[in-house]
Amino acid sequence: MKNLEWGKMSFSYTKTDYIIYSTFKDGKWTPAVKTADFNIALSSYAGVLHYGSSCFEGLKAFRGVDGKVRLFRPEENAKRMIRSAEFLDLPAPSIEQFVEMCVMAVKANAEYIPPYESTASLYLRPLLIGSNPQLGIRSSVESTFIVMASPVGTYSGDKILVPGTAVVGRNHDRAAPNGSGSYKIGANYAQSLHPYNIAHKQGYRELLFLDASTHSLIEEFGSSNFFAIKGNTYITPNSHSVLPSITNASLRTVAQDLGMKVEMREIPLVELDSVDEVNSCGTAVVITPICRIDDKIRLEDELPSHVYKFTEECGVKSRALYDQIIGIQKGTLDDRFGWTMFVDC
Ligand code: PLP
Ligand code: COI
Repeated sequence: MKNLEWGKMSFSYTKTDYIIYSTFKDGKWTPAVKTADFNIALSSYAGVLHYGSSCFEGLKAFRGVDGKVRLFRPEENAKRMIRSAEFLDLPAPSIEQFVEMCVMAVKANAEYIPPYESTASLYLRPLLIGSNPQLGIRSSVESTFIVMASPVGTYSGDKILVPGTAVVGRNHDRAAPNGSGSYKIGANYAQSLHPYNIAHKQGYRELLFLDASTHSLIEEFGSSNFFAIKGNTYITPNSHSVLPSITNASLRTVAQDLGMKVEMREIPLVELDSVDEVNSCGTAVVITPICRIDDKIRLEDELPSHVYKFTEECGVKSRALYDQIIGIQKGTLDDRFGWTMFVDC
């Protein structure tokens, strides 16, 4: 294992040794190769550079209490990438190829899998891009699939469940009602960069998007899904323009298993005055508590029109959910839902 400062890591890029690479050309995928050269050769006419034909995934490998390495639900990421690629009409790897290349990336960079004791993990970033030269607006017929790996900490370094603030503004939307919001495509993130920068400059950790038609319903954060705890109920939005988060789906299963009620429904922003705990959830953020949401008409406004306040510390029910997910991922709890896949390295 590398001697890195695991405790100081945040969610940022650390150079590792290899990426795994395959291209779809002439109707078939080339055999996946491991390469230490992180630069890829791409025509300047490649569709990804002009028309944004790109989708990606994020999943983590953990070193367990037993020393074994586990990937969390890689097949779910594979299915979601296939769905995103279908939306872009981009040739996609099969579930088997996706998982196999993720396993190769973990094995090739095994020395960068953080120790069990640390809060860090090895983040995998599978990326699929349209790579053939073209000029007209059309989907790419050739694609390049790469799996990268980087050790990451939580958003708060070695601390977990540190509450942050979020902001809502009605003059920036993440996704159109019948648009691409539920796909993990680069274009959705391009759309969020500018409003994110405004929010970050004002000191907010997160940006919460509302539905683009009425600006009254909660959709999701720029980096993650939204869930709240109201009494003994786990509530999370159901919307066609929200990314179907694998973490959120797993939390709903765990919440039910812990005897909580689960509601996936429209959540008016104003309902936040009557919820107990609010969190963002996703692979990168895991569960990150939100202690305050400032509601602004325009994101650039200095003062909010309303302030929603929640528990200063992570709430008890959110903590219980966090412990379950991390326990399963790191092997301290029984994998009773069959979510982990061992990687021999
Ligand atoms: N929503 C957005 C916009 C995201 O980027 C992510 C991260 O992948 C999520 C939600 C959470 O999804 P998952 O739990 O599958 O990582
Ligand atoms: C993830 O959680 O995997 C994401 O893609 C979100 C992004 C903040 C990296």
